[in-house]
Amino acid sequence: MKKILLDMDVGIDDSVALAYAIVNPDIDLVGVTATFGNVHVGQSVCNARFLLDLLGARDVPVEAGLSHPLGADKFLRSDDVVRIHGADGVGNIGEKYGVPTPGKDQLDAPGTGVDLILEAARRYGKNLTLVPTGPLTNIATAIRQDPQVMAGIADIVMMGGALTVTGNVTEAAEANIIADPLACKEVFESGVPVTMVGLDVTMRTLLTSENTAAWRATGSRAGRYLADMLDYYIDQHVGMYSLHGCCYAHDPSAVVCALHPEWFQTLRLPLTCVTSGPDAGRTTCSSQCVEYSASATTRACVDVDALAVARDINQTLLSGL
Ligand code: BDR
Ligand code: CA
Repeated sequence: MKKILLDMDVGIDDSVALAYAIVNPDIDLVGVTATFGNVHVGQSVCNARFLLDLLGARDVPVEAGLSHPLGADKFLRSDDVVRIHGADGVGNIGEKYGVPTPGKDQLDAPGTGVDLILEAARRYGKNLTLVPTGPLTNIATAIRQDPQVMAGIADIVMMGGALTVTGNVTEAAEANIIADPLACKEVFESGVPVTMVGLDVTMRTLLTSENTAAWRATGSRAGRYLADMLDYYIDQHVGMYSLHGCCYAHDPSAVVCALHPEWFQTLRLPLTCVTSGPDAGRTTCSSQCVEYSASATTRACVDVDALAVARDINQTLLSGL
């Protein structure tokens, strides 16, 4: 079983990724740390906790991480983020299913998420894979606090960035990275192994309304919850991306990549991230690209067996919901 710690801004595709990790018999989910992004960090904790409870995984620890990017004192969600994930991050179905909302004091209260990441890194070392599916603030902070222990983990398989395609927030930037470009730069340049699962591959893997119909047909509450949520996300893809009856499988792709790297083709190259100006959030090869590619600790996914990934997400969920 592969030991994975998820670091998430628990919106809709994060929830699908979390459910996939919970029910997958090949994954030992050692913890979930919450970050801001699709929702505020407090709601991110509530959304993760609710899904873990729903799927009978109450023993998996969940901790809140930081509530805003490095070098900023608050985080503001854009209208687009609220539209695509819903105000509650779960497609505005939270109230119907009884997903809790955080107390006022919990909304922006930094928790012990970074400690949980460091504890897991110390305990499992080379056996631990971190899978961040939101801004990289918690991961960068853990590296700042103990670069040596973080250098000892197996890999950071992160959803975010774009190398060969344009961004989805600006021409340069993908959503998770523009939310904290400095954190991304620090993680890329830290020497800790990183596999970037960016838009290059996540926009080629699709989940469909046939998938959600099958999850709903399991008759379980978890099946209905995930299906209702993903149907909302699929609807948003019509207006935002002109996709009909399907949506991008961004965050689940990163968890699949951690488990099945054989379905992803990667390029080893020294990645960096632009932190200011009109190109802020661009993930790109550093100026030492040619010289240092062979020894780079960072890799970017550039191709994917999209059908294998989509089938695995769907079938794994179907067997566990
Ligand atoms: C990423 O941004 C978020 O909206 C999604 O959850 C995903 O992690 C895609 O750009
Ligand atoms: Ca996410």
